[in-house]
Amino acid sequence: MTSIGAHGSAPSTLLVTGGAGFIGSHTCVELLGHGYELIVVDDFSNSTPRVFTRVERLTGRRIKAVHDVDVRDRRALSAVFDRHSVDAVVHFAARKAVGESTRLPVEYYDTNVGGTTNLLRAMQQHGVHRLVFSSSCSIYGDAGRVPLDETAPARPANPYAASKWACEQILADVCRRHPEFTVLSLRYFNPVGAHPSGLLGEDPRGTPDNLMPYVAQVAIGRRERLSVFGDDYDTPDGTAIRDYLHVMDTAEAHRVALEHLADAPGMQVFNLGVGAGRSVLDVIAAFGDACGRPIPYKIVPRRPGDVTELVADATAVERAWGWRATRDLAAMCRDAWRFQQHNPHGYAAPAQQRA
Ligand code: UD1
Repeated sequence: MTSIGAHGSAPSTLLVTGGAGFIGSHTCVELLGHGYELIVVDDFSNSTPRVFTRVERLTGRRIKAVHDVDVRDRRALSAVFDRHSVDAVVHFAARKAVGESTRLPVEYYDTNVGGTTNLLRAMQQHGVHRLVFSSSCSIYGDAGRVPLDETAPARPANPYAASKWACEQILADVCRRHPEFTVLSLRYFNPVGAHPSGLLGEDPRGTPDNLMPYVAQVAIGRRERLSVFGDDYDTPDGTAIRDYLHVMDTAEAHRVALEHLADAPGMQVFNLGVGAGRSVLDVIAAFGDACGRPIPYKIVPRRPGDVTELVADATAVERAWGWRATRDLAAMCRDAWRFQQHNPHGYAAPAQQRA
């Protein structure tokens, strides 16, 4: 099935930066499955090219080209645009660990902001003006109210969040100055889960920072127990609340965004979430149901920088595109568990077939 043609001006050849990463790889499956030609740029600093064999196996289609390029490398990035005729860009490539960003602020601004300005320069020089940008709910910071719509003020509380907010401001300035640009910035809440095949999922290097991959590694026995960061939040069970979003819904939203890039000039910003808050203990219980055994955990002090509650008002995207996330927490846990079972050591070894 292809969406090209349904919207006359939908782009057909896409440059995907960070296409080997967690959200990037799932989006590649969605886009290839809908007939797009893909050029991927990734420096594999937190991912592996092995993922593309799986992306191609799942879709029965080939990625046109993969370039091992750091988005900060101006000449190499420009050379990619020289070689391929690109209609639009989906920009995932970034560093994304909140804690690490407080230790390595220069690295975060350099990759996330510098990488984005470099990309914009290359796009301008090559007459490419359509972009879907990976933003984050973290730019809202400790908003103190939920659900959050797109008009909530930005209060980034760490360099990662500040780098994403800086990118949004740069993109808005570019769109103001250059009316030929159209940009859709998607503020993800908490993408989790995996492709339902068990072939693609989240494979962080080292100890996972994020909740769902950590829980999955406890479930498979790679780690003894989960540390729950704080049970003294002002929430019904005392643990922090997030809006978890299936990565396949996240991927689908990018495909829908591309179909709507030409709807309006300039920059538009949308939350991507389910619109429902789930606590850390909710996730532990749902994952226990998915894997058939309880997840061992202990309560430890709060993690610095964490906020009590972040839930999206996800209605703007539905009003604009008639699209909403459909997969629930049970599906997120089931799919993350399937990936973990089939790939107990991530992408380092071939996927194991299980019934
Ligand atoms: C953060 C960012 C988000 C970013 C994401 C990717 C904020 C507000 N959000 O999400 O924008 O895209 O990282 O890295 O900065 N938890 C535990 N034990 C663990 C791990 C996590 O209890 O071992 C808890 C956390 O305290 C939090 C919840 O689980 O309450 C979710 O944490 P996590 O998966 O790390 O995502 P965020 O911090 O919400």
